[in-house]
Amino acid sequence: MKTSRSKANPFAKRTPVVVTVGSSPSLADVGADADTVLGGVISRAVADGEITGSAGETTVFHGGPTGPSHVVVIGTGDGQRDAWFKAGGAIAKAATRIRTIKLVVGLPVDIEDAAVEAVLDGMAAGSYRFDRFRSQTDGPAPTLLEQVTIIGGGPAAARLGARDIVNAHVNAARDLANTPGNHLTPPMLAAYAMDLAKRTPGLTCQVLGPKELEKMGAGALLCVAQGSVNPAQMIVMRYTPTSPATKEVLGIVGKAVTFDTGGISIKPSGGMEEMKMDMGGGAATIEGIAAIAELGLPIEVLAVVPSAENMPDGAAIKPGDVVTALNGKTIEVVNTDAEGRLILADALTYAARNGATRIINFATLTGAIVIALGEVYAGLFGSDKGWTSTVFDAGEASGDLVWELPLHEAYRPLITSPVADFSNAAKKRQASSIYAAMFLREFTDGLPWCHVDIAGTGMINGHGTGFGVRLITQLAKDVAR
Ligand code: BES
Ligand code: MN
Ligand code: ZN
Repeated sequence: MKTSRSKANPFAKRTPVVVTVGSSPSLADVGADADTVLGGVISRAVADGEITGSAGETTVFHGGPTGPSHVVVIGTGDGQRDAWFKAGGAIAKAATRIRTIKLVVGLPVDIEDAAVEAVLDGMAAGSYRFDRFRSQTDGPAPTLLEQVTIIGGGPAAARLGARDIVNAHVNAARDLANTPGNHLTPPMLAAYAMDLAKRTPGLTCQVLGPKELEKMGAGALLCVAQGSVNPAQMIVMRYTPTSPATKEVLGIVGKAVTFDTGGISIKPSGGMEEMKMDMGGGAATIEGIAAIAELGLPIEVLAVVPSAENMPDGAAIKPGDVVTALNGKTIEVVNTDAEGRLILADALTYAARNGATRIINFATLTGAIVIALGEVYAGLFGSDKGWTSTVFDAGEASGDLVWELPLHEAYRPLITSPVADFSNAAKKRQASSIYAAMFLREFTDGLPWCHVDIAGTGMINGHGTGFGVRLITQLAKDVAR
Protein backbone atom coordinates (compact mmCIF):
# COMPACT_ATOMS: atom_id res chain seq x y z
CA MET A 1 0.00 0.00 0.00
CA LYS A 2 1.30 3.42 -0.99
CA THR A 3 0.18 6.75 0.36
CA SER A 4 0.65 10.22 -1.03
CA ARG A 5 -0.67 13.64 -0.21
CA SER A 6 -2.78 15.92 -2.36
CA LYS A 7 -4.27 19.37 -2.12
CA ALA A 8 -6.54 18.82 -5.13
CA ASN A 9 -10.32 18.84 -4.77
CA PRO A 10 -11.21 15.22 -3.84
CA PHE A 11 -14.75 15.59 -5.15
CA ALA A 12 -13.79 16.20 -8.79
CA LYS A 13 -12.98 12.54 -9.54
CA ARG A 14 -14.73 9.16 -9.22
CA THR A 15 -12.31 7.83 -6.59
CA PRO A 16 -14.20 7.00 -3.37
CA VAL A 17 -13.63 9.46 -0.51
CA VAL A 18 -13.28 8.51 3.15
CA VAL A 19 -14.09 10.98 5.88
CA THR A 20 -13.56 10.45 9.60
CA VAL A 21 -15.71 11.39 12.57
CA GLY A 22 -14.90 11.15 16.28
CA SER A 23 -17.17 9.88 19.03
CA SER A 24 -19.11 13.11 19.37
CA PRO A 25 -19.51 13.36 15.61
CA SER A 26 -19.18 16.71 13.95
CA LEU A 27 -18.40 17.29 10.33
CA ALA A 28 -15.46 19.56 9.58
CA ASP A 29 -12.98 20.01 6.73
CA VAL A 30 -13.39 17.26 4.11
CA GLY A 31 -16.33 15.82 6.07
CA ALA A 32 -18.30 19.05 5.79
CA ASP A 33 -17.51 19.27 2.07
CA ALA A 34 -18.59 15.66 1.52
CA ASP A 35 -21.85 16.36 3.31
CA THR A 36 -22.52 19.31 0.99
CA VAL A 37 -21.66 17.25 -2.09
CA LEU A 38 -24.11 14.52 -0.97
CA GLY A 39 -26.87 17.04 -0.20
CA GLY A 40 -26.72 16.73 3.59
CA VAL A 41 -27.24 12.96 4.00
CA ILE A 42 -24.20 12.56 6.26
CA SER A 43 -25.27 15.24 8.71
CA ARG A 44 -28.80 13.74 8.76
CA ALA A 45 -27.34 10.30 9.57
CA VAL A 46 -25.37 11.94 12.39
CA ALA A 47 -28.46 13.79 13.67
CA ASP A 48 -30.50 10.56 13.58
CA GLY A 49 -27.83 8.75 15.57
CA GLU A 50 -27.03 6.29 12.75
CA ILE A 51 -23.47 7.52 12.78
CA THR A 52 -22.02 7.52 16.29
CA GLY A 53 -18.34 7.82 15.42
CA SER A 54 -17.31 4.78 17.46
CA ALA A 55 -13.90 3.41 16.46
CA GLY A 56 -14.10 1.43 13.23
CA GLU A 57 -17.78 2.22 12.58
CA THR A 58 -18.29 2.18 8.82
CA THR A 59 -21.12 3.89 6.92
CA VAL A 60 -21.06 3.72 3.14
CA PHE A 61 -22.92 6.29 1.01
CA HIS A 62 -23.22 6.03 -2.74
CA GLY A 63 -22.22 9.10 -4.71
CA GLY A 64 -24.17 10.69 -7.55
CA PRO A 65 -23.55 10.50 -11.31
CA THR A 66 -20.56 12.84 -10.95
CA GLY A 67 -17.99 13.16 -8.16
CA PRO A 68 -16.81 10.28 -5.98
CA SER A 69 -18.46 6.88 -6.51
CA HIS A 70 -18.82 6.50 -2.72
CA VAL A 71 -18.30 8.47 0.45
CA VAL A 72 -17.34 6.26 3.39
CA VAL A 73 -17.69 7.65 6.90
CA ILE A 74 -15.35 5.98 9.38
CA GLY A 75 -15.55 6.40 13.16
CA THR A 76 -12.39 7.24 15.05
CA GLY A 77 -13.82 6.89 18.57
CA ASP A 78 -11.90 8.58 21.35
CA GLY A 79 -9.08 9.56 18.99
CA GLN A 80 -6.45 7.50 20.85
CA ARG A 81 -3.85 5.52 18.90
CA ASP A 82 -5.79 2.25 19.13
CA ALA A 83 -8.97 3.88 17.85
CA TRP A 84 -7.17 5.37 14.84
CA PHE A 85 -5.54 2.00 14.13
CA LYS A 86 -8.95 0.35 14.21
CA ALA A 87 -10.31 3.09 11.94
CA GLY A 88 -7.47 2.38 9.49
CA GLY A 89 -8.41 -1.30 9.47
CA ALA A 90 -12.04 -0.36 8.79
CA ILE A 91 -10.95 1.85 5.87
CA ALA A 92 -9.08 -1.09 4.32
CA LYS A 93 -12.09 -3.37 4.80
CA ALA A 94 -14.39 -0.77 3.23
CA ALA A 95 -12.12 -0.62 0.17
CA THR A 96 -12.45 -4.40 -0.23
CA ARG A 97 -16.22 -4.15 0.20
CA ILE A 98 -16.70 -1.48 -2.46
CA ARG A 99 -14.05 -3.15 -4.62
CA THR A 100 -11.62 -0.32 -5.01
CA ILE A 101 -7.84 -0.33 -4.85
CA LYS A 102 -7.77 3.48 -4.60
CA LEU A 103 -9.15 5.80 -1.95
CA VAL A 104 -8.96 9.44 -0.99
CA VAL A 105 -8.83 9.75 2.79
CA GLY A 106 -9.61 13.07 4.41
CA LEU A 107 -7.97 13.57 7.80
CA PRO A 108 -8.64 16.39 10.29
CA VAL A 109 -6.17 19.26 9.91
CA ASP A 110 -5.51 19.25 13.67
CA ILE A 111 -4.78 15.49 13.86
CA GLU A 112 -1.81 14.44 16.00
CA ASP A 113 1.28 12.87 14.41
CA ALA A 114 0.75 9.61 16.30
CA ALA A 115 -2.80 9.33 14.98
CA VAL A 116 -1.63 9.78 11.38
CA GLU A 117 0.84 6.93 11.88
CA ALA A 118 -1.82 4.80 13.54
CA VAL A 119 -4.36 5.19 10.74
CA LEU A 120 -1.69 4.38 8.14
CA ASP A 121 -0.63 1.34 10.20
CA GLY A 122 -4.25 0.18 10.39
CA MET A 123 -4.77 0.59 6.65
CA ALA A 124 -1.58 -1.29 5.84
CA ALA A 125 -2.44 -4.08 8.29
CA GLY A 126 -6.00 -4.34 6.97
CA SER A 127 -4.96 -4.58 3.34
CA TYR A 128 -2.61 -7.51 3.94
CA ARG A 129 -3.34 -11.01 2.77
CA PHE A 130 -1.10 -14.07 2.64
CA ASP A 131 -2.03 -15.93 -0.51
CA ARG A 132 1.27 -17.19 -1.80
CA PHE A 133 0.03 -20.77 -1.54
CA ARG A 134 -3.54 -20.31 -2.74
CA SER A 135 -4.68 -21.19 -6.23
CA GLN A 136 -7.65 -19.14 -7.41
CA THR A 137 -10.19 -21.95 -7.40
CA ASP A 138 -12.68 -20.16 -5.17
CA GLY A 139 -13.24 -17.15 -7.44
CA PRO A 140 -11.18 -14.01 -7.89
CA ALA A 141 -8.99 -12.80 -5.00
CA PRO A 142 -10.56 -10.01 -2.93
CA THR A 143 -9.68 -6.46 -3.88
CA LEU A 144 -7.07 -4.97 -1.57
CA LEU A 145 -6.38 -1.30 -0.95
CA GLU A 146 -3.21 -0.24 -2.80
CA GLN A 147 -3.21 3.52 -3.27
CA VAL A 148 -4.24 6.09 -0.66
CA THR A 149 -4.34 9.83 -1.25
CA ILE A 150 -4.38 11.83 1.97
CA ILE A 151 -6.16 15.18 2.13
CA GLY A 152 -5.47 17.37 5.17
CA GLY A 153 -3.74 15.62 8.04
CA GLY A 154 -1.45 18.35 9.42
CA PRO A 155 2.35 18.30 9.39
CA ALA A 156 2.76 14.53 10.01
CA ALA A 157 1.13 13.83 6.67
CA ALA A 158 4.34 15.13 5.10
CA ARG A 159 6.10 11.96 6.30
CA LEU A 160 3.72 9.45 4.75
CA GLY A 161 6.40 7.78 2.66
CA ALA A 162 8.45 6.95 5.75
CA ARG A 163 5.50 5.17 7.35
CA ASP A 164 4.84 3.24 4.16
CA ILE A 165 8.39 1.91 4.38
CA VAL A 166 7.88 0.76 7.97
CA ASN A 167 4.57 -0.88 7.13
CA ALA A 168 5.98 -2.65 4.08
CA HIS A 169 8.53 -4.26 6.40
CA VAL A 170 5.85 -5.13 8.96
CA ASN A 171 3.97 -6.97 6.22
CA ALA A 172 7.17 -8.63 4.99
CA ALA A 173 7.74 -9.91 8.56
CA ARG A 174 4.19 -11.28 8.50
CA ASP A 175 4.94 -13.07 5.22
CA LEU A 176 8.02 -14.67 6.77
CA ALA A 177 6.11 -15.82 9.86
CA ASN A 178 3.25 -17.19 7.77
CA THR A 179 5.55 -19.13 5.45
CA PRO A 180 5.41 -22.87 6.20
CA GLY A 181 8.45 -24.60 7.61
CA ASN A 182 9.18 -26.52 4.42
CA HIS A 183 9.37 -23.24 2.49
CA LEU A 184 11.48 -21.43 5.08
CA THR A 185 14.34 -23.40 6.58
CA PRO A 186 17.29 -21.68 8.31
CA PRO A 187 19.37 -21.60 5.09
CA MET A 188 16.38 -20.17 3.20
CA LEU A 189 15.93 -17.44 5.82
CA ALA A 190 19.65 -16.69 5.56
CA ALA A 191 19.39 -16.43 1.77
CA TYR A 192 16.42 -14.08 2.19
CA ALA A 193 18.42 -11.83 4.55
CA MET A 194 21.39 -11.85 2.15
CA ASP A 195 19.17 -10.77 -0.72
CA LEU A 196 17.51 -8.05 1.35
CA ALA A 197 20.92 -6.65 2.31
CA LYS A 198 22.05 -6.67 -1.31
CA ARG A 199 19.02 -4.59 -2.27
CA THR A 200 19.35 -2.11 0.62
CA PRO A 201 22.05 0.60 0.67
CA GLY A 202 24.06 0.71 3.91
CA LEU A 203 23.01 -2.81 4.90
CA THR A 204 25.31 -5.85 4.87
CA CYS A 205 24.72 -9.48 5.76
CA GLN A 206 27.05 -12.28 6.74
CA VAL A 207 25.90 -15.83 7.45
CA LEU A 208 27.74 -18.14 9.81
CA GLY A 209 27.09 -21.83 9.06
CA PRO A 210 27.89 -24.98 11.07
CA LYS A 211 31.64 -24.85 10.31
CA GLU A 212 32.06 -21.27 11.52
CA LEU A 213 29.76 -21.85 14.48
CA GLU A 214 31.70 -24.91 15.56
CA LYS A 215 35.03 -23.11 15.25
CA MET A 216 33.63 -20.21 17.24
CA GLY A 217 32.19 -22.51 19.92
CA ALA A 218 28.49 -21.68 19.54
CA GLY A 219 27.44 -24.96 21.15
CA ALA A 220 24.06 -23.72 22.38
CA LEU A 221 22.88 -22.75 18.90
CA LEU A 222 24.36 -25.85 17.26
CA CYS A 223 22.79 -28.34 19.67
CA VAL A 224 19.25 -27.22 18.77
CA ALA A 225 19.80 -27.94 15.07
CA GLN A 226 21.57 -31.27 15.49
CA GLY A 227 18.38 -33.34 15.11
CA SER A 228 17.49 -31.66 11.80
CA VAL A 229 18.70 -32.19 8.24
CA ASN A 230 18.66 -28.37 7.93
CA PRO A 231 21.79 -26.76 9.40
CA ALA A 232 21.89 -23.96 11.97
CA GLN A 233 22.66 -20.46 10.71
CA MET A 234 23.67 -17.29 12.50
CA ILE A 235 22.52 -14.37 10.38
CA VAL A 236 24.50 -11.21 11.11
CA MET A 237 23.35 -7.94 9.55
CA ARG A 238 24.91 -4.53 9.95
CA TYR A 239 23.63 -1.12 9.09
CA THR A 240 26.11 1.74 8.90
CA PRO A 241 24.56 5.19 8.40
CA THR A 242 26.35 7.84 6.37
CA SER A 243 26.50 10.18 9.36
CA PRO A 244 25.60 8.67 12.75
CA ALA A 245 24.05 11.00 15.34
CA THR A 246 25.27 8.86 18.25
CA LYS A 247 28.12 6.55 19.26
CA GLU A 248 25.59 3.97 20.40
CA VAL A 249 25.33 0.75 18.42
CA LEU A 250 21.87 -0.75 18.70
CA GLY A 251 22.05 -4.53 18.99
CA ILE A 252 18.93 -6.40 17.91
CA VAL A 253 18.64 -10.14 18.39
CA GLY A 254 15.70 -12.27 17.24
CA LYS A 255 14.81 -15.92 17.71
CA ALA A 256 14.30 -17.71 14.39
CA VAL A 257 13.30 -21.32 15.01
CA THR A 258 11.83 -22.04 11.60
CA PHE A 259 9.91 -24.94 13.08
CA ASP A 260 9.67 -26.01 16.70
CA THR A 261 8.53 -29.61 17.22
CA GLY A 262 9.93 -29.48 20.74
CA GLY A 263 12.64 -31.99 19.75
CA ILE A 264 12.86 -35.15 21.89
CA SER A 265 10.73 -33.32 24.50
CA ILE A 266 8.17 -33.32 21.70
CA LYS A 267 5.11 -31.07 21.71
CA PRO A 268 1.53 -32.40 21.53
CA SER A 269 0.37 -32.57 17.90
CA GLY A 270 -2.71 -30.33 18.28
CA GLY A 271 -1.87 -26.86 16.99
CA MET A 272 1.75 -27.77 16.35
CA GLU A 273 1.50 -26.25 12.85
CA GLU A 274 1.59 -22.81 14.51
CA MET A 275 5.20 -23.49 15.42
CA LYS A 276 6.17 -22.49 11.86
CA MET A 277 5.86 -18.98 13.34
CA ASP A 278 8.53 -19.58 15.98
CA MET A 279 10.79 -17.35 13.90
CA GLY A 280 8.69 -14.20 14.39
CA GLY A 281 11.37 -12.52 16.51
CA GLY A 282 13.97 -13.15 13.83
CA ALA A 283 11.61 -11.89 11.13
CA ALA A 284 10.99 -8.65 13.07
CA THR A 285 14.75 -8.26 13.55
CA ILE A 286 15.60 -8.72 9.86
CA GLU A 287 12.77 -6.47 8.66
CA GLY A 288 13.42 -3.98 11.46
CA ILE A 289 17.07 -3.37 10.51
CA ALA A 290 16.04 -3.21 6.84
CA ALA A 291 13.42 -0.56 7.68
CA ILE A 292 16.01 1.45 9.62
CA ALA A 293 18.40 1.26 6.66
CA GLU A 294 15.75 2.20 4.13
CA LEU A 295 14.74 5.17 6.29
CA GLY A 296 18.41 6.12 6.59
CA LEU A 297 18.16 6.62 10.36
CA PRO A 298 21.41 8.03 11.80
CA ILE A 299 22.38 5.13 14.07
CA GLU A 300 24.58 2.08 13.65
CA VAL A 301 22.72 -1.19 14.10
CA LEU A 302 23.88 -4.78 14.53
CA ALA A 303 21.25 -7.48 14.04
CA VAL A 304 21.93 -11.08 15.02
CA VAL A 305 19.42 -13.79 14.14
CA PRO A 306 20.18 -17.32 15.30
CA SER A 307 18.20 -19.80 13.22
CA ALA A 308 17.56 -23.51 13.63
CA GLU A 309 14.89 -26.14 13.12
CA ASN A 310 14.08 -28.03 16.34
CA MET A 311 13.52 -31.66 15.31
CA PRO A 312 13.79 -35.07 16.97
CA ASP A 313 15.94 -37.66 15.22
CA GLY A 314 18.72 -40.08 16.04
CA ALA A 315 21.24 -37.26 16.26
CA ALA A 316 18.99 -34.92 18.28
CA ILE A 317 20.02 -33.44 21.60
CA LYS A 318 18.65 -35.46 24.53
CA PRO A 319 17.31 -34.28 27.88
CA GLY A 320 20.23 -34.23 30.31
CA ASP A 321 22.88 -33.50 27.67
CA VAL A 322 25.33 -30.75 28.57
CA VAL A 323 26.53 -28.21 25.99
CA THR A 324 29.01 -25.34 26.12
CA ALA A 325 27.73 -21.95 25.01
CA LEU A 326 29.71 -19.34 23.05
CA ASN A 327 30.58 -17.50 26.28
CA GLY A 328 32.12 -20.68 27.74
CA LYS A 329 29.30 -21.40 30.20
CA THR A 330 27.87 -24.91 30.34
CA ILE A 331 24.15 -25.63 30.04
CA GLU A 332 22.28 -28.77 31.00
CA VAL A 333 19.52 -29.20 28.40
CA VAL A 334 16.78 -30.53 30.67
CA ASN A 335 14.01 -29.86 28.17
CA THR A 336 14.74 -29.78 24.44
CA ASP A 337 11.57 -27.71 23.92
CA ALA A 338 13.21 -24.80 25.76
CA GLU A 339 15.33 -24.28 22.64
CA GLY A 340 14.75 -20.56 22.08
CA ARG A 341 16.84 -19.50 25.05
CA LEU A 342 19.66 -21.78 23.84
CA ILE A 343 19.98 -20.24 20.39
CA LEU A 344 19.49 -16.74 21.84
CA ALA A 345 22.25 -17.33 24.40
CA ASP A 346 24.90 -17.57 21.68
CA ALA A 347 23.38 -14.76 19.61
CA LEU A 348 23.34 -12.40 22.62
CA THR A 349 26.98 -13.22 23.37
CA TYR A 350 27.84 -12.63 19.72
CA ALA A 351 26.06 -9.25 19.66
CA ALA A 352 27.68 -8.17 22.95
CA ARG A 353 31.15 -9.11 21.68
CA ASN A 354 30.80 -7.60 18.24
CA GLY A 355 30.09 -3.98 18.93
CA ALA A 356 26.57 -3.61 20.32
CA THR A 357 26.43 -1.05 23.14
CA ARG A 358 22.86 -1.89 24.11
CA ILE A 359 20.72 -4.86 23.17
CA ILE A 360 17.10 -5.74 22.64
CA ASN A 361 15.91 -9.22 21.73
CA PHE A 362 12.58 -10.45 20.38
CA ALA A 363 11.44 -14.04 20.81
CA THR A 364 8.33 -16.21 20.74
CA LEU A 365 9.80 -17.67 23.89
CA THR A 366 7.22 -18.95 26.38
CA GLY A 367 3.65 -20.20 26.39
CA ALA A 368 3.33 -18.63 29.85
CA ILE A 369 3.56 -15.09 28.48
CA VAL A 370 0.42 -15.78 26.45
CA ILE A 371 -1.37 -16.78 29.66
CA ALA A 372 -0.09 -13.67 31.47
CA LEU A 373 -0.55 -10.92 28.87
CA GLY A 374 -2.53 -12.42 25.99
CA GLU A 375 -2.27 -10.95 22.50
CA VAL A 376 -2.18 -7.27 23.48
CA TYR A 377 1.04 -6.62 25.39
CA ALA A 378 4.33 -8.42 24.85
CA GLY A 379 6.36 -9.26 27.96
CA LEU A 380 9.27 -6.91 28.64
CA PHE A 381 12.25 -7.79 30.83
CA GLY A 382 15.31 -5.60 31.29
CA SER A 383 18.66 -5.40 33.05
CA ASP A 384 18.86 -1.60 33.01
CA LYS A 385 16.15 0.76 34.26
CA GLY A 386 16.83 3.54 31.74
CA TRP A 387 16.96 1.22 28.73
CA THR A 388 13.86 -0.64 29.86
CA SER A 389 11.86 2.55 30.16
CA THR A 390 13.11 3.72 26.75
CA VAL A 391 11.82 0.45 25.29
CA PHE A 392 8.51 0.77 27.14
CA ASP A 393 8.02 4.30 25.75
CA ALA A 394 8.91 3.18 22.22
CA GLY A 395 6.24 0.50 22.59
CA GLU A 396 3.56 3.04 23.50
CA ALA A 397 4.60 5.38 20.69
CA SER A 398 4.80 2.68 18.01
CA GLY A 399 1.73 0.64 18.89
CA ASP A 400 3.82 -2.48 19.62
CA LEU A 401 2.88 -2.52 23.31
CA VAL A 402 5.21 -4.03 25.93
CA TRP A 403 4.65 -4.49 29.67
CA GLU A 404 7.45 -5.02 32.16
CA LEU A 405 7.72 -8.15 34.28
CA PRO A 406 10.30 -8.57 37.03
CA LEU A 407 13.74 -10.07 37.19
CA HIS A 408 15.01 -10.78 40.71
CA GLU A 409 17.92 -12.69 42.22
CA ALA A 410 15.43 -14.69 44.27
CA TYR A 411 14.40 -16.43 41.03
CA ARG A 412 17.97 -17.64 40.49
CA PRO A 413 17.42 -21.17 41.91
CA LEU A 414 15.19 -21.76 38.87
CA ILE A 415 18.13 -21.54 36.46
CA THR A 416 20.64 -23.63 38.41
CA SER A 417 21.66 -27.18 37.50
CA PRO A 418 23.24 -29.89 39.64
CA VAL A 419 25.68 -30.77 36.85
CA ALA A 420 26.33 -27.60 34.79
CA ASP A 421 26.53 -23.81 35.16
CA PHE A 422 22.88 -23.46 34.17
CA SER A 423 19.88 -25.57 33.31
CA ASN A 424 17.66 -24.57 30.37
CA ALA A 425 14.41 -25.53 32.10
CA ALA A 426 13.26 -25.30 35.69
CA LYS A 427 12.13 -28.30 37.70
CA LYS A 428 9.27 -26.22 39.08
CA ARG A 429 6.42 -25.23 36.77
CA GLN A 430 6.27 -21.59 37.77
CA ALA A 431 7.24 -18.16 36.49
CA SER A 432 8.52 -19.74 33.30
CA SER A 433 8.65 -16.45 31.34
CA ILE A 434 10.74 -14.87 34.09
CA TYR A 435 12.90 -17.95 34.30
CA ALA A 436 13.66 -17.73 30.57
CA ALA A 437 14.56 -14.06 30.91
CA MET A 438 16.82 -14.75 33.92
CA PHE A 439 18.60 -17.33 31.77
CA LEU A 440 19.06 -14.96 28.81
CA ARG A 441 20.52 -12.20 31.00
CA GLU A 442 23.47 -14.46 31.79
CA PHE A 443 24.63 -14.15 28.17
CA THR A 444 24.53 -10.36 27.77
CA ASP A 445 28.00 -9.50 29.14
CA GLY A 446 26.43 -6.96 31.50
CA LEU A 447 25.30 -4.62 28.70
CA PRO A 448 22.00 -2.76 28.98
CA TRP A 449 19.63 -5.40 27.63
CA CYS A 450 15.90 -5.93 27.15
CA HIS A 451 14.06 -9.11 26.25
CA VAL A 452 10.65 -8.91 24.59
CA ASP A 453 8.63 -12.14 24.76
CA ILE A 454 6.27 -12.05 21.76
CA ALA A 455 4.76 -15.55 22.00
CA GLY A 456 1.34 -13.89 22.43
CA THR A 457 1.64 -10.79 20.24
CA GLY A 458 3.76 -12.23 17.41
CA MET A 459 1.15 -14.76 16.34
CA ILE A 460 -2.59 -14.19 16.62
CA ASN A 461 -5.22 -16.74 15.50
CA GLY A 462 -2.61 -18.67 13.59
CA HIS A 463 -1.24 -15.64 11.71
CA GLY A 464 2.01 -13.71 12.01
CA THR A 465 1.61 -10.07 13.08
CA GLY A 466 4.99 -8.50 12.34
CA PHE A 467 5.12 -7.40 15.97
CA GLY A 468 8.44 -5.71 16.72
CA VAL A 469 9.19 -3.99 13.42
CA ARG A 470 7.45 -0.75 14.45
CA LEU A 471 9.01 -0.89 17.91
CA ILE A 472 12.49 -1.41 16.46
CA THR A 473 12.25 1.58 14.10
CA GLN A 474 10.85 3.77 16.88
CA LEU A 475 13.67 2.70 19.18
CA ALA A 476 16.31 3.49 16.55
CA LYS A 477 14.85 6.99 16.23
CA ASP A 478 14.75 7.45 20.01
CA VAL A 479 18.32 6.24 20.63
CA ALA A 480 19.64 8.38 17.75
CA ARG A 481 17.99 11.46 19.25
N1 BES B 1 8.21 -21.68 20.89
C1 BES B 1 7.81 -22.09 22.19
C2 BES B 1 6.97 -21.04 22.93
C3 BES B 1 5.60 -20.76 22.37
C4 BES B 1 4.50 -21.40 22.88
C5 BES B 1 5.42 -19.78 21.42
C6 BES B 1 3.24 -21.10 22.40
C7 BES B 1 4.16 -19.50 20.94
C8 BES B 1 3.06 -20.15 21.44
C9 BES B 1 9.04 -22.36 23.05
O1 BES B 1 10.14 -22.85 22.36
C10 BES B 1 8.66 -23.38 24.06
O2 BES B 1 8.40 -24.48 23.69
N2 BES B 1 8.64 -22.98 25.33
C11 BES B 1 8.28 -23.84 26.40
C12 BES B 1 9.38 -23.79 27.43
C13 BES B 1 9.28 -24.86 28.49
C14 BES B 1 9.60 -26.21 27.88
C15 BES B 1 10.26 -24.55 29.59
C16 BES B 1 6.97 -23.35 27.01
O3 BES B 1 6.79 -22.14 27.15
O4 BES B 1 6.13 -24.20 27.30
MN1 MN C 1 10.12 -24.93 22.14
ZN1 ZN D 1 10.28 -22.35 20.39
